[in-house]
Amino acid sequence: MKKALPLMNDPFMKRYVPDTDWFGYDSLDKMMRRYDSVYIKPDVGRQGGGIIRVKKLSAKQWEISSKQTSSLFAPDKVYKQVKLLLNPKKKYIVQQGIDLATYHRCPFDVRVVLQKPLGYWRATLMSAKVAPRPSSLVTNVAKGAKDHNVYKVLRGLDQSLSSSNIMRDLMDISHQTAQILNSRYSFKILGLDLAVDKNGKVWFIEANTMPDNAGLENVDRSLYSKYLKARKLMRSG
Ligand SMILES: Nc1ncnc2c1ncn2[C@@H]1O[C@H](COP(=O)(O)OP(=O)(O)O)[C@@H](O)[C@H]1O
Ligand SMILES: [Mg+2]
Repeated sequence: MKKALPLMNDPFMKRYVPDTDWFGYDSLDKMMRRYDSVYIKPDVGRQGGGIIRVKKLSAKQWEISSKQTSSLFAPDKVYKQVKLLLNPKKKYIVQQGIDLATYHRCPFDVRVVLQKPLGYWRATLMSAKVAPRPSSLVTNVAKGAKDHNVYKVLRGLDQSLSSSNIMRDLMDISHQTAQILNSRYSFKILGLDLAVDKNGKVWFIEANTMPDNAGLENVDRSLYSKYLKARKLMRSG
């Protein structure tokens, strides 16, 4: 929430941030009226852990899914059931669910890593993290998603969307996000999770100032050498 707030308050970026609030009875009720799917996530989360999705199947039936379970409830029972799945020591947010575009029927999101080697933000790594199953809730590598070449995935989408328009938006939003966050916080590297929905719209999901880039060298070697070069420049600077 802390990193999403400056973006939600930015006149350009706010339309790319899913509707988000602190989790509670009223906010969940509001989100379930507005959207067909809603995510509940720990405010300080890691590797896709503790994430819950509630999804409308019909006016009388909502599906609650977590890593362990997936079951159906009447809408007025959802809050109580979700509460049972939460860690009482943690703070949670409730967020508009994004209907992710798919590749070979599996949802994916895009990791963009930006670095600021010589005073300007540059996008030095990109990958599409493709979830292991069509029904997967999250697209974290720690939860079985695989990194793929982002161009290959955007050109092979199940939806017929323009890969070049999506790529342009991914780059634009990544640079805007880096600028805005960097005007508030100081960091030299930024890992973004961006989503692409089934209509081709790009969304901001998460920003991480200590991204784990393990494994990305095999996805796009020429990009990876750009990343290493930027890292070297920053260390010597
Ligand atoms: N609002 C959302 N709509 C659709 N999918 C989401 C949403 N929020 C999170 N996800 C999925 O869950 C994954 C993990 O969420 P994220 O906010 O990045 O938490 P974490 O810090 O655990 O990685 C995302 O990469 C995405 O696949
Ligand atoms: Mg994430």
